[in-house]
Amino acid sequence: MRSAALDEGPILQTSHLLGTEALSVDEIIGLLDLAEHYVTLNRSAEKKSALLRGRTLINLFYEASTRTQSSFELAGKRLGADVLNMAVKTSSVSKGETLIDTATTLNAMRPDILVVRHQASGAAELLSRKLNCCVVNAGDGSHEHPTQALLDALTIRRHLRSFEGLVVAICGDVAHSRVARSNIHLLSKMGARVRLIAPRTLLPADADRFGVEIFHDMREGLKGVDIVMMLRLQLERMSGAFVPSAREYFHFYGLDAEKLKNAKPGALVMHPGPMNRGVEIDSAVADDIEVSVIQEQVEMGVAIRMAVLDALSRGLAAGGRNAR
Ligand code: NCD
Repeated sequence: MRSAALDEGPILQTSHLLGTEALSVDEIIGLLDLAEHYVTLNRSAEKKSALLRGRTLINLFYEASTRTQSSFELAGKRLGADVLNMAVKTSSVSKGETLIDTATTLNAMRPDILVVRHQASGAAELLSRKLNCCVVNAGDGSHEHPTQALLDALTIRRHLRSFEGLVVAICGDVAHSRVARSNIHLLSKMGARVRLIAPRTLLPADADRFGVEIFHDMREGLKGVDIVMMLRLQLERMSGAFVPSAREYFHFYGLDAEKLKNAKPGALVMHPGPMNRGVEIDSAVADDIEVSVIQEQVEMGVAIRMAVLDALSRGLAAGGRNAR
């Protein structure tokens, strides 16, 4: 069911997907277009393709994950690859093995694609220099989470068609969020205007370098926006108290129907998950299918990951550095 246009050749210029900062507009559009094809495939009864038959994908997740890991697993399986989910907690990591040693060991088993999530910013890039398989960054510390930004972009494009001139507010714990960074790079490149809404304690020190507008008052920041993207408080990355209490945080920065009224009528509400209901988002908003596209983001996640695996496999087939 692949259309001729989709077979036209390489989409990505590199054999890894490490972040959105280095992606070109053409690469982004290529991945989004390819993902549309997989949205259709995933909505059909027969979801399977043989594109990656014979290929091996390893998921190596050092941090908890529901959506990202399961969607990479499904994506790999639907494309016909053998998928191995490393159970990091019960692996030799618990005996003190380093990231590099674990990854080198897995690399010796000749996987074609390694999907890695790690608490250290730069971990995926480091592995891409040490291993001879394709490396996909599934989240490195507070640095980047490229497939999340791509699935967010796919969700937005399906509703609003173009990014040009859209105003997107990213609200909450920007300081610790790789989702925010990947989205800022991608959305700005595509012509959207990004606003960050957060208390000073939850903004990165170098926030102005992103070329975004910054707001500390949520009602002010939400005025006239097309998209409201909410972020979880990443307590696991915080040492010390960044907010006085969850209750007070919700009062000032939690998205409820009343604050949402400041956004453009028909504005979409997004959240990468996992949500902390009553902390950054009110259940009434999160579950309101008139405004919330949170479940659609999850659906788009599988399609985007299939597109990424497809695009990387073109490099494998073309005899690039990963071909064996
Ligand atoms: C995000 C992550 O892990 O960076 N989740 C995800 O991948 N959907 C955001 C988060 O953990 O809050």
